[in-house]
Amino acid sequence: MSKIKVPYLDLKAQYQSIKPEIDAAIASVLDSCQFILGPEVAGFENEFAAYCGSSECIALNSGTSALHLALLAAGVGPGDEVITAPFTFVASVAAILYTGARPVLVDIDPPSFTMDPNAIEAAITSRTKAILPVHLYGQTADMEPIMDVARRHHLVVIEDAAQAHGAKYKGRPAGSIGDIACFSFYPGKNLGAYGEGGAVTTSNSQYASTIRMLRDWGQDRKYHHELRGYNYRMDGFQGAVLRVKLRHLDRWTEARRSIVRRYNELLADSEIQTPIEMPWGRHVYHVYTIRSEDRDALHGALTSEGIQTGIHYPIPVHLQPAYADLGYGPGAFPNAEKAAAEVLSLPLYPELSSQAVQRVVEAVSRGVAGAGVSSQLRTSE
Ligand SMILES: Cc1ncc(COP(=O)(O)O)c(C=O)c1O
Repeated sequence: MSKIKVPYLDLKAQYQSIKPEIDAAIASVLDSCQFILGPEVAGFENEFAAYCGSSECIALNSGTSALHLALLAAGVGPGDEVITAPFTFVASVAAILYTGARPVLVDIDPPSFTMDPNAIEAAITSRTKAILPVHLYGQTADMEPIMDVARRHHLVVIEDAAQAHGAKYKGRPAGSIGDIACFSFYPGKNLGAYGEGGAVTTSNSQYASTIRMLRDWGQDRKYHHELRGYNYRMDGFQGAVLRVKLRHLDRWTEARRSIVRRYNELLADSEIQTPIEMPWGRHVYHVYTIRSEDRDALHGALTSEGIQTGIHYPIPVHLQPAYADLGYGPGAFPNAEKAAAEVLSLPLYPELSSQAVQRVVEAVSRGVAGAGVSSQLRTSE
């Protein structure tokens, strides 16, 4: 493998840009010795709830824990069914299985890569309890028709907003559209912690108080266990780091969006399909995913030129060996399967320089030509 010339992500560059603020925040946690929950986590909860336009935020130790507790608070358990999409990170489906419920999958809508609202109605049975749309890559699912079908059938809607901090749907922030929303603060996320982290946002106080108890062993007071809970608490360092980073998030999102405009412009004349920002919202580009029928050749060409890329995701969940017993085989979700075969994520992070963007596009151009896909990329001004 050749030396990396453009990394997929550069967390160090971001840390360097805000080092004094981060170092002070970490030092304050060391001084206070409030290592679990505590004032920094509570402060972050207030600020992130306000950012998402929801009345409550409960900070947790991962996005997976957020999905698990959101489903439990919604009353999902053995014998129930939850509808989600197969083209996602595996956690969206795994969390449903944690509750003992059955994930029921529906295909995606190709331009947005998110759940096809038109496929939901046919998947509803008397056991359906919830719908779990995933705001993939930083773009929300088409929430209005999803909420409509959910209301008609009395289903809870849980947004998987793990990749969508700051995304908007018809002006409303991700995290405030469904009944409950789940975020991940895995370090590479648009709002990333310096370790594991996650959160639930909701404006339903009943769900919020249940989730607050469940994250801390089901206690309502110390050693009074009302519910059978978990240790899913956020640690103090993550709360402190996330408070600092939240203040920069909108600026970083704008930087991502401006890089995306540049990528789109330079790739406009190629056969490569660039991502589509749907008319319903504001995409925050957690990942910039192009599509190519020669994806594997292009991936190989970029790797050999030192351009680091990602594939999100190479195998849809229903075709993963671990989830074969869900009962779906190849061909069950043609749009998800085609996307999995064609997607390729290019380097994207707020600090990515315009020279690096140029370099990536030129490598894509050579890769596309080498892969036999006709293309005339505009690689200069
Ligand atoms: C769509 C989606 N859902 C859930 C998760 C799980 O989040 P975490 O890794 O914080 O547990 C992720 C994280 O990658 C994700 O991308």
